[in-house]
Amino acid sequence: MLKVENLQVSVEGKQILNKVNLSVSANSIHVLMGQNGSGKSTLAQTIMGNPFYEPVAGKIEFEGVDILGLKPDERSKKGIFLSFQYPSEVAGVGIQSFLRILYNNSHEEKLTPVRFRELLFAKSDMLGINREILERSLNDGFSGGEKKKMEILQMSILEPKLAILDEVDSGLDIDSLKIVANAVDRLRKKNNMAVLIITHYARILKYLEPDFVHVMKDGRIAKSGNRRLAYELEERGYEFDA
Ligand SMILES: Nc1ncnc2c1ncn2[C@@H]1O[C@H](COP(=O)(O)OP(=O)(O)OP(=O)(O)O)[C@@H](O)[C@H]1O
Ligand SMILES: [Mg+2]
Repeated sequence: MLKVENLQVSVEGKQILNKVNLSVSANSIHVLMGQNGSGKSTLAQTIMGNPFYEPVAGKIEFEGVDILGLKPDERSKKGIFLSFQYPSEVAGVGIQSFLRILYNNSHEEKLTPVRFRELLFAKSDMLGINREILERSLNDGFSGGEKKKMEILQMSILEPKLAILDEVDSGLDIDSLKIVANAVDRLRKKNNMAVLIITHYARILKYLEPDFVHVMKDGRIAKSGNRRLAYELEERGYEFDA
């Protein structure tokens, strides 16, 4: 489904990613770990098409189609979703109208505000999101965990084919982590969604069974393995086999 080949990415002329290769198939869960600054978010942002990150060589294909020339919203329409490590606060944009536009843009069936509200409440209740915060502007004054849950709410509404979750677990309390992980897994099973989870901690793997764990180092995927690799890293750190 997603195929990254020999990807090289620069930011403001500085090379950040160097020959990254990664294949993610439908219904699979990949975990990407690695030290701070190793290039994980850069990879996620480049897959989503953030123009700040310049792909200077290599390929990104989604469902067999080269997507490097597509804008972020076009990639989103194709079914790629990224939950941000640092979601922005958008004052003046009401959550309900924002999410309804997202829904109507990504589904054949268009919903009226009233019908959409029913759907929204069903999904937000499942994520344990307080209905009161849905009356506010997007992420405006939200706590760290509330922002992360809003990202997952967006994912639940878009129902993407590929979800890239950049440190969605950082800032979530223990119960919320379980709720979020289960929501991701439910959607994976329902739609054969592919998942790429960027994380520093193995704890989310208690609820999600990864097919592969990758370690990024200095802008490259230096090692891949199964879930045991995540536990080894947690125990021994990144230097043990450096
Ligand atoms: N907008 C930017 N301007 C300048 N340098 C950047 C920018 N974005 C990323 N970089 C640099 O690219 C490198 C990789 O950053 P990236 O955010 O991809 O790391 P990361 O692996 O996600 O780290 P973390 O675990 O801390 O989130 C870092 O050295 C960072 O400073
Ligand atoms: Mg990051």
